[in-house]
Amino acid sequence: MEFKFDIKDLAEAVIVRIDHTLKPVGYDEEDENIQRRVAMIIDEMGKASARAQNLKMPITTAEKLSKSDNIIYLLTEQINEETFAVVGILKMGWKKLYLFDKKGIRSEAMVYCLLDFYIHETRQRQGYGNQLFEYMLKDNELEAKQLAIDRPSKKMLQFMQKHYSLKKLVDQGNNFVIFEEFFDIPGLTQ
Ligand code: ACO
Repeated sequence: MEFKFDIKDLAEAVIVRIDHTLKPVGYDEEDENIQRRVAMIIDEMGKASARAQNLKMPITTAEKLSKSDNIIYLLTEQINEETFAVVGILKMGWKKLYLFDKKGIRSEAMVYCLLDFYIHETRQRQGYGNQLFEYMLKDNELEAKQLAIDRPSKKMLQFMQKHYSLKKLVDQGNNFVIFEEFFDIPGLTQ
């Protein structure tokens, strides 16, 4: 998705992390212009993600982000001096979940949850999603099996199987999905 403005001041790297301030993490200056542009990008990408998943309402909006402690990872591409493309978004957040293992035993854990994930249609199946996902894992020093996924699409489940060999789901009785391997990690639940 192309946006007609220079983002040298916004995106110094290919992947930018945005938090509730609607500015890149660590960007300390007050700059309403940046916040307006970031809000526009997030709203547009949120809508595109909802369309791609056949959802009635976007899961991701700038307003929701501003009232949360979620992080959005933006994958960008500078096309020329004035134009840049946002290739994809990945929204993550910590949640306290009651989890059931495959024997149905309940525990409680703070789990890093994948809340929204979208790569633009023109770029899907070319490794961009994996690039963004890997960056997020490294950034948090986590492994894929430690995540929960909120209402995963079929493509999402295929993505997890292809890149991380994760396919056995443990039913949680809610919208979140975790994989059997989650319970291999000692000390995650209590
Ligand atoms: N059909 C089936 N599997 C797919 C498809 C597709 N159209 N697109 C991606 N995948 C899976 C496959 O396993 C694929 O491997 P393959 O091409 O060898 O079959 C693998 O993902 C490709 O990996 P990447 O290229 O790294 O992934 P991509 O850049 O396509 O990003 C994503 C994956 C985010 C799921 C993307 O396809 C997308 O935006 N899909 C539409 C929206 C969506 O479903 N988002 C996830 C919703 S769940 C949630 O947000 C909580």
